[in-house]
Parts: sequence; C-alpha cells; structure tokens
Amino acid sequence: ADYATILVEVRDRTGLIRLNRPKALNALNTELMTEVVAAAKAFDADPGIGAIVLAGSPRAFAAGADIKEMAGKGFSEMVAEQFFGEWDSLSRLRTPTIAAVTGYALGGGCELAMLCDMIVAGESAKFGQPEINLGVIPGIGGSQRLTRAIGKAKAMDLILTGRSIGAAEADALGLVSRVVADEEAEATAFEMAAQIAAKSSIATAVAKEAVNLVFETGLAEGVRAERALFYSTFATEDQTEGMAAFVEKRDPHFTHR
Ligand code: HXC
Repeated sequence: ADYATILVEVRDRTGLIRLNRPKALNALNTELMTEVVAAAKAFDADPGIGAIVLAGSPRAFAAGADIKEMAGKGFSEMVAEQFFGEWDSLSRLRTPTIAAVTGYALGGGCELAMLCDMIVAGESAKFGQPEINLGVIPGIGGSQRLTRAIGKAKAMDLILTGRSIGAAEADALGLVSRVVADEEAEATAFEMAAQIAAKSSIATAVAKEAVNLVFETGLAEGVRAERALFYSTFATEDQTEGMAAFVEKRDPHFTHR
C-alpha cells in the first residue's frame, strides 16, 4: 500500500512502520494515525510477520498529536469524530510491537510509544505529557498507561507539571525496556524483533496477552487466566516441536501452528 505520512518496510520477519512527517516533528494527525493503524493491522494479519517496530526520526519519535489540526475543533466535533479513538486498536494487536524512540516522545507521541509492548530509548529520548500546557489532558490513554507504568507519584508529577524526562530517568522509572546510544536504538529494536520473530508466534501472542492481563484483572483472576492460556499452548504443534527440539538437543523449527 502507498502511504503519505509513514514509510513501511519488511526486514526478514519484522515489519517496520516509520512515522514520516519529520518537518512537523512527526506530529500525529488523523491521516497519520489512520495510516499507522492500517499498516499495523496489515502486519498483524500477515503470518510472515513476527514482530513490528515503530520508529520516528532522529529528532523526534513524535512531538504529540498535531496541535494545528486540533486547535480549531470544538467539543461536539471531537465526540462526533471520536478523535484518535482508533489508536487504541494498536494495544490489541497479537504481534509484539517495539517502539524505537529517539528525541521527543511527547503527548500523543509518548502515548503511542506506551501503546507498544516495549520501548527502546536512545539517549536523546525525551518523554512527557505536556498537554496541561495547552489546557487539555492526555487523550490516548496517557493518564492510565503512564500511571500503571511508573506509579501515581511520578505520573502526577509529569502530567500536572508537563515536564519531560530523559532516557535515564525513564529507564529508572521502568517506562522503557532498554536505553542505548541513539545510533543503536533502531538496530536494537530490530535485534529484539528478530529474536521475538524466531519464536512461535502463537506463544508470543499468548505471552503478551498474559502480561497485558495485569492491566485489566486482579491477581487471582490473572493467575487463573494465565494457567488457562498456558494449558492452551499444549494444543499447538509449536509446543510439541519446541519441547522435542530441547530433548533432542537441536534448534526448534516453529511452524506457528
Ligand atoms: C503540530 C508541531 C507539534 C505538534 C512540533 N510541531 N510539535 N506541530 N503539533 N504537536 C511543529 C512546529 O510547529 C514546527 O513547525 C516544527 O514542528 C518544529 O518544531 P519547533 O517547535 O520549531 O521545534 P523546537 O523549537 O525544537 O521545539 C520542539 C518541541 C516543540 C519542544 C517538541 O515543538 C513543542 O513543544 N511541541 C509541542 C509538544 C506538545 O505540546 N505535545 C502535546 C500535543 S497535545 P513550523 O511549521 O511552525 O516550523 C497531544 C494530545 C494527545 O498530544 C491526545 C489526542 C487525542
């Protein structure tokens, strides 16, 4: 497919979606959001894709939702459009997603990164929810996902003051999975993606489903659901193959069935 605001590429079993409005620091407008969601769903439906990397440009992963697009809108328009409501479908992909972040990940950009399963940060990464400075609040899950990721004390600090944090602080707070040099951010995300894509894609989908249950259930219910998901992996050929390969001291050949 031809896209206007993103670049899409496949390397081995990894799909890359690159936000590509560098002059606007990859500000997220409706067109870009629609394209990202379409590309992500297409990768998710492709059995040849085992992981998805979402990247921006060196200066910015994304500096937020496009303020120029939002500026003239009123309440009823936002409701009628369900503005940015589709973004959330990214959190329901079966394919593991990794955000490679260099530069600004602010507002909707931070929320987009948090919609991914993991964030790899370059040293220049800056995360924040500065919406308060515009007289609004996070609108793509930021108040919820940031608080679950780093706790109330730090989330309130960021969301109420609008300050941003660097890669080291984001690492210390547990917002990101890894911090590397800027030049290594994408390569690291691709290495992680390649490792993940080599596994059974049924197992990776079930594993991320199990982790994500933490955000929706209590402990007892989550543990029960995990056990049911664990048992379900024994209905797969990949379980048979993975365990046979271990016993026979060889590499597994997963067929994703
Ligand atoms: C539209 C943006 C933009 C944005 C940057 N640009 N961020 N355009 N929306 N969010 C544009 C600028 O207007 C400018 O274009 C160009 O990108 C370069 O930006 P500069 O400001 O000149 O760069 P710099 O001085 O380096 O400052 C970088 C920055 C600043 C600190 C990141 O751009 C900034 O504060 N941006 C806004 C960050 C923000 O508030 N994000 C939250 C948005 S609200 P021109 O053409 O003027 O040169 C949000 C809500 C989510 O995300 C919920 C939605 C449902």
